[in-house]
Amino acid sequence: MAFRRAVVTGGAGFLGSHVCEELLRRGTRVLCLDDFRTGSRGNLPDHPALGVAVADVTRPLEVLGPVDLVVHLACPASPVDYLRMPVDTLRTGGFGTLHALELAHRKGARVVVASTSEVYGDPEEHPQRETYWGHVNPIGPRSVYDEAKRFGEAMTFAYRREHGVDAGVVRIFNTYGPRMRPDDGRLVPTFLRQARQGEPLTVHGDGTQTRSLCYVDDLVRGLLAMAESPHPGPVNLGNPEEVTVLEVARRVIEATGSTSTIRHVAAMVDDPRRRRPDIGLARRLLGWRPEVPLDEGLRRSLDRQLVGWSR
Ligand SMILES: NC(=O)c1ccc[n+]([C@@H]2O[C@H](COP(=O)([O-])OP(=O)(O)OC[C@H]3O[C@@H](n4cnc5c(N)ncnc54)[C@H](O)[C@@H]3O)[C@@H](O)[C@H]2O)c1
Repeated sequence: MAFRRAVVTGGAGFLGSHVCEELLRRGTRVLCLDDFRTGSRGNLPDHPALGVAVADVTRPLEVLGPVDLVVHLACPASPVDYLRMPVDTLRTGGFGTLHALELAHRKGARVVVASTSEVYGDPEEHPQRETYWGHVNPIGPRSVYDEAKRFGEAMTFAYRREHGVDAGVVRIFNTYGPRMRPDDGRLVPTFLRQARQGEPLTVHGDGTQTRSLCYVDDLVRGLLAMAESPHPGPVNLGNPEEVTVLEVARRVIEATGSTSTIRHVAAMVDDPRRRRPDIGLARRLLGWRPEVPLDEGLRRSLDRQLVGWSR
């Protein structure tokens, strides 16, 4: 199915810029709405079918003309960012999601809302299936993000039930790739930066905690498959290959040919011990599974990250 005109909130961020690019490649006209708090205009191409407008999604969204798809990604996503703006993160997860839903409802558009594996918190079920309700500390520092996203899901389902809007939720697991900010505090860009600069790679705790890392092109393909589906979700999107943080550090050192060592630092508060999506639903519903192996994804991120850094 080809969408004619899509609105992408948070389109100037890491994931959003890849979503915009892929929609443009598929012939969709795209309007990116972003207030650039963590994103950048430089992430987006100059393209005749791309419009970019400054908009804060915590305020009602006005868009002229028809829209048949809304992809709602706007939200601070890295711990460095959401811990710096905790109240705004909650506001964005709540009001921002409401405004994206209202826009989709007014336009009669499909809306895909980006949730996160963080709704599972520090999971007691492994791997995590969509039926698992999660294990989140509601008052810890990370709760501003986890609970914002849980509220966003509640809002999406309430809005769908009350107004019949065609909304779907995706729970995105750790995704990496080009255009992540080297200083955004997330695992892969931090390790890549440290390895490139020959600094020790900082591993929190003993490094046996696990992550599942999905390359961005795979994620965008899954997200747009969800856009084309009428399903409400939530649907997990992530790479089920589980690796320890220590192993990620070793693979980054290998991929970069760096002389960096590994340094253990204090564990983070409420850091999840294990993370792995069960992607059975995405496979059945969307025919989706990730294809890019970690080593290949790291190489691609590195090649294109170097270009980003010289900007
Ligand atoms: N990257 C991941 O691994 C991952 C994992 C799970 C979920 N997600 C979700 O995907 C979405 C995008 O994440 P990302 O990694 O690209 O983060 P990002 O920080 O690179 O992008 C977020 C974008 O949203 C914009 N934004 C934030 N608050 C806004 C507001 N109030 N109004 C308008 N624009 C606003 C930022 O300026 C930025 O361009 C987020 O909703 C995030 O929760 C990402």
